Order: sequence, then structure tokens, then C-alpha cells
Amino acid sequence: MDDLFYDMIFKRKSFHLFGNVKEKISKDELAKIEDFIKQVKPLMEDIKTKIEIVPASETTCKRGEEYCILFYSEKKDNYLQNIGYIGEQIDLFLPSLNIGSLWFGIGKVKEQKYEDLDYVIMIAIAKMDEDKFRKDMFKSKRKELGETWSGEKHKEIGNITRFAPSACNSQPWITEEEENKLVVYRYKKKGKRGIMPIDKVNYYNKIDIGIYMLFLEICLKKENIEFEREIHIDNCNDETEKNLNAVYKLK
Ligand SMILES: Cc1cc2nc3c(=O)[nH]c(=O)nc-3n(C[C@H](O)[C@H](O)[C@H](O)COP(=O)(O)O)c2cc1C
Repeated sequence: MDDLFYDMIFKRKSFHLFGNVKEKISKDELAKIEDFIKQVKPLMEDIKTKIEIVPASETTCKRGEEYCILFYSEKKDNYLQNIGYIGEQIDLFLPSLNIGSLWFGIGKVKEQKYEDLDYVIMIAIAKMDEDKFRKDMFKSKRKELGETWSGEKHKEIGNITRFAPSACNSQPWITEEEENKLVVYRYKKKGKRGIMPIDKVNYYNKIDIGIYMLFLEICLKKENIEFEREIHIDNCNDETEKNLNAVYKLK
């Protein structure tokens, strides 16, 4: 699965509009997605989650998708990073079936709760032609590597991970190489709020960091670099620009 994930980093993209979808997602493909969902790996083992696939008509997302994948979670420390990490595994699996996707933060759902779990976010999906997927990832709009990565030894990894998707393409991550360590921060420039209210920015950016961590781990595995992951609780201090989220000790 790790090799497939790595290859799909280059193929995936957000379908902000799915356009004229010619083909439907087949029953067999739906079953494959359901099976895949059953074996995704969480970032936080102790957080209960539920993932549901519903027809697009059950959400406010109107981008031409056929289904939406809804994520529900217990609200515990780092639950948003956990959803980002889990959801991105699905986001990377889908292009292997030529199913396009869109993380959709602004969407609303009918059911805010699944039993005792809260709705977090959705991913909209539809079958797409193979030629609609990304052809040259390096042409996608992203910050320069030097803005989000410091250190020389593993910067080629940073040159791939910087293409992780993020809400409003905010790319709220910084990775600092220390001796045999990669230190990952959620970054929020002081005073810069953009169009979103600050609580929303923090909310989505924590999901983004979970997505980024998955990208980082896929790339480390690709390079056969063994690591030990140390998760840090992001205490979300609005005064702090760099919030420590993870340390990867490289072996
Ligand atoms: C957590 C999250 C929430 C997002 N929410 C929306 C959204 O509400 N509407 C939208 O059009 N795109 C949304 N996106 C997609 C981003 O705009 C997109 O990932 C980013 O611009 C990078 O482009 P790419 O995914 O094609 O590489 C979201 C992405 C993430 C990761």
C-alpha cells in the first residue's frame, strides 16, 4: 500500500468542480472503498471515529460529486490531526480507481452526530477520466520549499511533502531538520487571518497537519528511512506561531 500511496501523491488533485461526470462509481468500486476504509491506520489509537459514505444529496456540497465520505469523531486531543491522517489515506487510495475527490471543509451534513461522535469534515467523490488527474505535480501552486522546510539532508523529501493538500492551500506546516530528527510544526503567522475566522483556521489547519504527516511518513518509507514518531498535543495557542505537532526520530 505504501508504494501505491507514494505514486498517488503525484496523481491526486482536488476536483473543485467534477464537471460532466460520464460514468458512475460502480458497486464493485464502492465495495473496494468500504473495504479500504476498514483498514485505514489512525494517528491516535485511542480516538473513536466513524466514516460513512452517503449520496451527495445528503450534504450541502454541490460540486457535481456522486457521494460524500463523512468523518465523525470523538473530540479528544489531536482528533483533527487524526481525521486528516485517516482521510488522506482514503484521498490517496481513490485516484488508483480513477475516482476524483475534494476535501470539503465548508460543507454541511444532515446528521451532526453519529451516535456519540461529532461530524468533522467530508470528502466529495466522483468517477473521473484518467486524463483529468494531475500530470505534473511540480506545476501546482505551493510555497517555496525554503518557507516550509529547513535543513539540507532530507530536503528532497520536503520537496514532495510540500504538495500535500490543505484548506485554502494554506500549507500551515514547517519541518525543521535537527540531528537525526524531523520536527513538524503547525504554523500560523501572527495577525494573518485571511478570509476565515481564527477558530476555523485552527480547525482546518490541524486537519492539514494530519494530512501532511501522512505524506511525510509515506516519503520516509519510500526512502527506506526507519523512524519513531512522537506525537505532541497541539495546545493551539493563538500567540504561538509555531505549534509543535510531531517529532520523527530517524534511525
Ligand atoms: C482540510 C481541507 C479542507 C478543504 N476545504 C475545501 C472547501 O471547502 N472547498 C474547496 O473548494 N476546496 C477545499 N479544499 C481543497 C483545497 O483548496 C486544495 O487541497 C488546495 O487548494 C491544494 O490543491 P490540490 O488539492 O489540488 O493539490 C480543502 C482541502 C483541505 C485539506
